Amino acid sequence: MKFPKVMQLKGERILLRMLADSDISALMAICNDPDLHHFTRIPYPYTRRDAAWFIDHAKKEKRTGRELHCGIIFENKLIGMIGIHNLVVKDKRTEIGYFIAKVYRGKGFATEAVYTFLDFLFASSECNRIEIVCSVKNLPSQKVIENVGAEFEGIARERCIANGIAHDVRQYSILRKEYLKKRKS
Ligand SMILES: CC(C)(COP(=O)(O)OP(=O)(O)OC[C@H]1O[C@@H](n2cnc3c(N)ncnc32)[C@H](O)[C@@H]1OP(=O)(O)O)[C@@H](O)C(=O)NCCC(=O)NCCS
Repeated sequence: MKFPKVMQLKGERILLRMLADSDISALMAICNDPDLHHFTRIPYPYTRRDAAWFIDHAKKEKRTGRELHCGIIFENKLIGMIGIHNLVVKDKRTEIGYFIAKVYRGKGFATEAVYTFLDFLFASSECNRIEIVCSVKNLPSQKVIENVGAEFEGIARERCIANGIAHDVRQYSILRKEYLKKRKS
């Protein structure tokens, strides 16, 4: 996929943008939360080196067009991340993932970020199908996915291993035609 040189996606309250080296400390602070590691592959403890590596990785992957990772900014503060990975160009599909800093959870930020990101992906790429998966135990994420109207497709057994633990996941997808119709209505 070809991504814009400057990523600045505006939601109602948030801005999605690429991270810079100046975001290393903020990313470290968010990721050093033991609860974040139950359902993600983010390492714990999360070091300065991990944050620097990730920001660099995100820049490189954006250039290759394989992955896109944006910081979620609220009132000029980094409060989370959203991104795509597992892009399959020939099938025009990809997968999204996200997390929100603990103190900002439960305020609709993930839902807003997913909407903002999906609006961008469907408007500016040929993506036809976007997949989102979450552990059967991850009720807040399940709620976010259902908020944006994704279709539940079934349970994939032990599909993801997060920090050494295999999770059965609920698998969802959003198709271009369904999403555009939903956003118009
Ligand atoms: C999942 C996560 C991103 C949600 O972020 P958020 O900003 O709190 O999400 P939102 O506020 O948009 O929506 C959360 C919804 O879950 C609901 N919720 C929160 N805790 C819940 C619980 N224990 N049981 C059921 N629902 C719950 C909220 O009420 C809200 O529902 P609503 O939109 O109907 O009000 C956040 O909890 C997180 O970062 N978790 C750790 C990382 C993670 O799991 N990432 C996703 C991997 S698939």
